[in-house]
Amino acid sequence: MSDSEIRLYYKNVTTEVVGGEHGISPERLQELAGKTSPLISKLNEERRSGRIPYRDLPFNTKISQQVKELVARIDGDFENLVVLGIGGSALGNIALQTALNPYMYNIDENQRSGPRLFVFDNVDPPQFISFLEWLGPKLEKTVFNVVSKSGRTSETAAQFMIIRKLLIDKLGRESLRGHIVATTDPKEGTLRKIADDLNLQCLEVPDGVGGRFSVLSGVGLFSAAMCGIDIDSLLAGARDMDRRVSGEDFYKNPAAINAAINFHFYNTGKKISVMMPYSYALRDLADWYRQLWAESLGKKENKVGNEVFIGPTPVKALGTTDQHSQVQLYREGPNDKLFTFLEVQNFDKDINIGTAPDCAPELNFLAGKKMGMLLNSEKKATEYALLESKRPCLTIIFDKVDAYSVGQFIYLYEVTTSLAGALFDINPYDQPAVELGKEATFALMGKSDQEDLARQIQSLSEVDSNYLI
Ligand code: PA5
Repeated sequence: MSDSEIRLYYKNVTTEVVGGEHGISPERLQELAGKTSPLISKLNEERRSGRIPYRDLPFNTKISQQVKELVARIDGDFENLVVLGIGGSALGNIALQTALNPYMYNIDENQRSGPRLFVFDNVDPPQFISFLEWLGPKLEKTVFNVVSKSGRTSETAAQFMIIRKLLIDKLGRESLRGHIVATTDPKEGTLRKIADDLNLQCLEVPDGVGGRFSVLSGVGLFSAAMCGIDIDSLLAGARDMDRRVSGEDFYKNPAAINAAINFHFYNTGKKISVMMPYSYALRDLADWYRQLWAESLGKKENKVGNEVFIGPTPVKALGTTDQHSQVQLYREGPNDKLFTFLEVQNFDKDINIGTAPDCAPELNFLAGKKMGMLLNSEKKATEYALLESKRPCLTIIFDKVDAYSVGQFIYLYEVTTSLAGALFDINPYDQPAVELGKEATFALMGKSDQEDLARQIQSLSEVDSNYLI
């Protein structure tokens, strides 16, 4: 057990706080309870019958053991760890690192207990070249974790092929096994084939676990463990949340309440869902959430094939930074958003604000106060201002940010997504609309058997100078 919990606070979405037009009444919440409770049971049943394998990741000791053994084997050999992946094969890694390691981790060796971590989730030539130039002779002390469930994602494949050539050219073909860890499907796919062929060290993305639900598998655990994050505690937090979100009492189940509230607001015209952490550490969890929410819930068809074009639009903001960028719109623009703040009650480190210069006594109100107090006051102030404008607000309260609470958060949002999918009556586990773009890229990059598609795209994407100014 840990003293670090996360809790969901939802009073500020109710009619009592934001009024009848924009809030949820107790009666409506009761209706939502009636609709959601059977879906919790159904989800539990699906999970028991093995149809939602991500639910079992926190209990999968085989994976965490494999990760720990691999880390123990290579720990100390490398100064740099480079993750090559995209989407669900990168966002969780980034989120864990930002949440659980210090801001200057890569820069200051006194602030890190593992290798520097770089996650490349793009194919941007200047960015990649700049990195390779920096890497130079450090290649020998660098391990690459190529993460791709399918193994056929162009971005990851391209990065891998550049790195493979670099390793062969600089360190020889025999260096590949020692310098690459492949995280992929246990049985099939292009990366699996390559890994088997090159006899690479491997970690698995278990069968049936989609990319955006895979952070608690080898996908996210390896880079986390390499960088000194306590993965046992992360998984323990997720297990604790599993108990809470499996409970069939709607009012005690944070995923059920969260999903139902999101469902309600989407259906009453608040189709945008803003997640706003008041904590730099939690910033990239909002990015991870954005993908989870968008790819899972943005669907053309419901489960029986009717066109529904469903999907709340997730937006990420950061407190206090975006107070000075977005809050004008959030308060006075259309009332079409549900806000979810992430608030940290106890920062693991805090600092006193110094005294005001004599010439600026008007700053005395800040003197001697903690910076964390300022951050949290700004959260409360922004929430107050939004509530004044009748904008509904949820808050996820973190006692503190540690591996345990982050594990809880990840699992809470994964199950919230499953339940929201059930409420919207769509399949949250596929992403058919992403596939066309992937196929189109193959075609444009000259993949054989895709010539027709390539011609079709060319004719559409040819620039018509009549419209070019
Ligand atoms: O959530 C998903 O399924 C996607 O975002 C994938 O993670 C992403 O497209 C990368 O796919 P892959 O891991 O097969 O390279």
